Amino acid sequence: MTQRHMALGAFFHPTGHHLAAWRHPGAQIDAGTNIDHYLDLARQAERGKFDFIFLADALACRHGNLDALSHWPQYMAYFEPTTLLAAMAVVTRHIGLVGTATTSFNQPWDIARRYASLDHLSKGRIGWNIVTSSNQAEAQNFSLDRHFDHADRYRRAEEFVQVAKGLWDSWEDDAFLRARDSGRYFDPEKLHRLDHEGEHFRVRGPLNVARGPQGHPVLVQAGSSEAGRGFAARHAEIVFTAQTDIDEARAFRLEMRERLAREGRDPEAIRILPGLNPVLGSTSAEAHALRDGLAAMIPVALGLEALAPILPEVDLSGCDPDQPCPLHLLAADTNASKSGLETFRAQTLAGRTLRQIYTDYINARGQNSICGTAAELADHMEHWFREGAVDGFLIQPPILPLGLEAFVDGVIPELQKRGLFRADYASNTLRENLSLARPVNRYTAAGIRNLDPRL
Ligand SMILES: Cc1cc2nc3c(=O)[nH]c(=O)nc-3n(C[C@H](O)[C@H](O)[C@H](O)COP(=O)(O)O)c2cc1C
Repeated sequence: MTQRHMALGAFFHPTGHHLAAWRHPGAQIDAGTNIDHYLDLARQAERGKFDFIFLADALACRHGNLDALSHWPQYMAYFEPTTLLAAMAVVTRHIGLVGTATTSFNQPWDIARRYASLDHLSKGRIGWNIVTSSNQAEAQNFSLDRHFDHADRYRRAEEFVQVAKGLWDSWEDDAFLRARDSGRYFDPEKLHRLDHEGEHFRVRGPLNVARGPQGHPVLVQAGSSEAGRGFAARHAEIVFTAQTDIDEARAFRLEMRERLAREGRDPEAIRILPGLNPVLGSTSAEAHALRDGLAAMIPVALGLEALAPILPEVDLSGCDPDQPCPLHLLAADTNASKSGLETFRAQTLAGRTLRQIYTDYINARGQNSICGTAAELADHMEHWFREGAVDGFLIQPPILPLGLEAFVDGVIPELQKRGLFRADYASNTLRENLSLARPVNRYTAAGIRNLDPRL
């Protein structure tokens, strides 16, 4: 289905995306444990008519130089996404709620159940950001010495998602008769066991949650490697990316649509949303002063430490921050993010110093960052959207709640005025607001009845 206006997600890190955000008076300083802060953010994003809220996740604290890390609250102490989304669901009515769960350190039955339950609880507003975890530290919390290899974790993800999809079809949409007269609560022919036996999982099923209002949660993915793109082409309905160049973004969107067609999917059935970090001011100078002020609060040791997630195998501590990273340190492949390492290598080859790279990374965590007025930001978004480079954006406010308020009050009206964004929600489900089709139950589609007399 085609959608006429852009899709917008609001990505919340507790105090904001900038590493120094928590030191700014516009940030909620105890955000990671402050439920009222998150409920206010959810209401605020819904006031702005965002398609969805997005919460990232990792199953470990960051490892590394503890002195440097002690300046940085992100990923150290914060709410678990599915429980937080459940709380947000009850104070909102229209906005979608997308939470991250890894396929590497979970079991598909449990994740399928949690997301199906959340879909009911939110009345059809849930999305699952499927990650394979590039953070190597997670493995050590799950009885492993090291993380699965990149290829293995995508193979596991593939089977995981196939099992989850199967479980979400356990009950056909009209399986529940709830007939007081006949005394029959559900139609046994419309309940299906999965009986999956694969390389990684054995799952009998069925699921003990009815099919959700959306059929399946909206599936979201962000891997940019070859394996990640292949996976997205088979399953994703939203793809988060980190493009900073319009031509590359257009090429990526085109490539993903072609890949969908090759997988037998409708190329329109995907929304490609690059991250966008808006640093807003009432003048361009004010926005730049805000950014420079934040950057000045980052000690060098923390700047180098912030690169660890993309270079976990490299020790940068002895490096001169005002020189490019020595190339021999980047010679080896990584078992973390392949695309992250490639981008870093390309920037180093272009002569960028470590300080320049980490400052950019800190500003926007590898995403595009636009510093200026609301109208300037809207110009950028309009250009990328009208040029067919994106279906919308994942907005990553540098400071929360300040940056979200500035976006909702400044940029949203500007986009609405230009006819680029909705004036109000068309529906109460995430799928319908994104113009994504509801998956048909596989057994209903094939006309398969369950005739096994035993469950
Ligand atoms: C906007 C965005 C959000 C992401 N959120 C998470 C997350 O919450 N947890 C996680 O483990 N990885 C997250 N990732 C990382 C991706 O899932 C993926 O591991 C990374 O892009 C590397 O993919 P690749 O190994 O296919 O290159 C995110 C990536 C992007 C661009």
